[in-house]
Amino acid sequence: MKKITYFANANIAVVKYWGKACKQLNIPIVSSLSITLDKLGSLTSISETKNEDVLFVNGVQQKEESLNRFKSFLDYFRDTFGIKTFFKVESKNNIPTKAGVASSSSAYASLAAGLNELANINLPNKELSLLARLGSASAARSIFPFAAGLYGGENLSHEEAFGFSVNSPSIKDLRLIIILVSEKEKKISSRKAMIKSEESPFFKTFVQESKKDFHDGLNALQNCDLESLGTIMEHSTLKMHSVLWTLKPALNYFTSQSLAFMERICLLREQYGPIAFFTLDAGPNVKVLCHKDALEKIIEFLELDKQSIKYLISSPGNGVEKIDDR
Ligand code: PMV
Repeated sequence: MKKITYFANANIAVVKYWGKACKQLNIPIVSSLSITLDKLGSLTSISETKNEDVLFVNGVQQKEESLNRFKSFLDYFRDTFGIKTFFKVESKNNIPTKAGVASSSSAYASLAAGLNELANINLPNKELSLLARLGSASAARSIFPFAAGLYGGENLSHEEAFGFSVNSPSIKDLRLIIILVSEKEKKISSRKAMIKSEESPFFKTFVQESKKDFHDGLNALQNCDLESLGTIMEHSTLKMHSVLWTLKPALNYFTSQSLAFMERICLLREQYGPIAFFTLDAGPNVKVLCHKDALEKIIEFLELDKQSIKYLISSPGNGVEKIDDR
C-alpha cells in the first residue's frame, strides 16, 4: 500500500495568534507572524485504510480529544475534495508534544502536505495553508520556509485566512534557543484556553493591539531588525499571557523557572544591550530570539550549560518537505 511521508518544521510565533473568529473553521481572530525551527518538528506518514481513521502519535494510538480533532479534520478534507477513503497516520515529533513548543503546527502542516499528495489534489501552498489551518491555525505558517504570517480577523472568510511567506533576506542569521523547562503535556489545550480567553476583560484589548503588532512586526521581520522584532515579540507574548492571568479563575502556563529565565533575559539586556528577547506559548518553555553571533554570550549568561535543563538551538528552517521512504 502506498505510504507518503512528510516532515514539517514547527514554528514559533513572534506576533501571537490567540483567539478564534470562527471556532468551526478555526479562523484566528488576529493575524500572526512566526519563524520556523529548522529540523525540529513532525515526521508524518500517511496511508489509506478501508474502514476508519487511525492516528498514532509517537507510537501511541490516539483516543478521545486528539482523535476527534483529527477525525473532524479528515471529514472536512473528504467532504471538500470528494475523497472516499480513510487514513492511517503515524506522526512522530522530535520536540516535546503538547508542551507549548508548537508541535501541533508541524503535525498538521505535515499531515496536510501528505494528504495533498496521497489524494493527488496538487494544492498550491496558499491552499495547503488553508487546509493545515483547519487542523491547527499555527500549522498554516509551517507550510512556508523561514518566516511566515497568517491572516486572521473578526470578519474573515475561510479563504481569506491563509498563510504566506515573509521575505526576510538576513533571517538565517537569527537563532532561537528553546529552553525546555518542562516537557510535560500542558494541563489545558490552547484550543480550550483560547475559547475561555474571550471572558477576560483584556481580550478585546489584545485583539485591538495585535493589529499594530502585526503591522510593525512584519516590518521588523522583513528588515530583520532584531531589536524591534524582539520588543514586539515580548510585548505580544505578555499581552497574550495577561489575557490568561485575568481569567476567573486565572490560567497560568508559567512556572517559577520560566519567570526566572524571563528575568535573566531582562538582566542580560541591562548588561549587554538588546541582544536577546523571550517568548512563551501555551506552556512553560522559554524561547530566546537572538543573532547567531550572540549565542555563546547568552548561553553563558543564562548558565544553560551548568544546569540540568535541556535546551535546543535552532535556526529558521525550510517549509514542509517530502521524505523518501526507503
Ligand atoms: O495553532 P494552535 O491551536 O496550536 O495555537 C497556537 C497558539 C500559540 O502558539 C500560543 C501562538 C501562535 O501564534 O502560534
